[in-house]
Amino acid sequence: MSKANIVVVGSSNMDIFCYTDHLPEPGETLIGDRYWMTLGGKGANQAVGARRLGAEVTLVGRVGDDLFGQRMLDNFSSHGMALDHIQVDREAGSGVALILVDKQAENSLVVVPGANMRIAPADVEAAARVLRAADVLLMQLEIPLETIQRAVDIAHEGDTLCVLNPAPARPLPDVILEKVHLLTPNQSEARVLTGIPADTLEDAEAAGQALLDKGVQTVIITLGAQGALIVRPGETTHVEGVSVDAVDTTGAGDAFTAGLAVALAEGKTLEQASRLANLAGALSATKPGAMPSLPTRDEVEAFAGAP
Ligand code: RIB
Repeated sequence: MSKANIVVVGSSNMDIFCYTDHLPEPGETLIGDRYWMTLGGKGANQAVGARRLGAEVTLVGRVGDDLFGQRMLDNFSSHGMALDHIQVDREAGSGVALILVDKQAENSLVVVPGANMRIAPADVEAAARVLRAADVLLMQLEIPLETIQRAVDIAHEGDTLCVLNPAPARPLPDVILEKVHLLTPNQSEARVLTGIPADTLEDAEAAGQALLDKGVQTVIITLGAQGALIVRPGETTHVEGVSVDAVDTTGAGDAFTAGLAVALAEGKTLEQASRLANLAGALSATKPGAMPSLPTRDEVEAFAGAP
């Protein structure tokens, strides 16, 4: 089996977690249990997640010229990732996310993107050779849409599978959707993209179908503990979820997407890839934090074999 080769174009954040009994109401001040500062950002999480699952990974991104940015660069190096396509931006600070997590493992986030929103089309053009040679291009929505569009166009010059994890949700133009091979919304993101509440399997299938009608080739709607729904022309498949005792679901979507990308890059089917992705996502929810909770390949394989 050849090693998966993945390019992630995406964000890096410093995550500041506060753990509380419940999430605050508007105007309410809570006393939290503890706080934790750790590296995150959907792009960085998916890049590190794919790396832990055994892929070669290139991240195209931007960090600020500040202490957080230096921590991010050191972290990527420690994961064996080259820094060639990560710019240090002197005009904007590093991205920061404030994340509240309650006792039920529910979360609430505020992201201040900083340098992430300055990841430019020119940044992906500078990485064009790597991008065309990659098995999978992986993107999320914490960066400018024009950069996503340029990355997708370059990927189409090669044989690269374009995977877009539309998180955090925002409406997407058809010009992007029609060039995405695989879109991976969760239920609330599917609703933002289509206007269809994807609460039941039937509604999720309808939302997936609406996205196919816009030109996406395949949609995988993640359903949390219920697993994932693969919607493709003429065929819908439900891949059962994995039940765990969740302590913090932040980063579970990133673990899922990374697992999916790695497995597809290794030549696995959508069903096989979704099963591996479900395991990675479930394992991530059993640990606090986003990036620190992303599992290794050994952990996923041990979990898959567990009775
Ligand atoms: O998906 C989790 C991530 O979302 C966090 O790491 C945070 O940085 C936000 O981008």
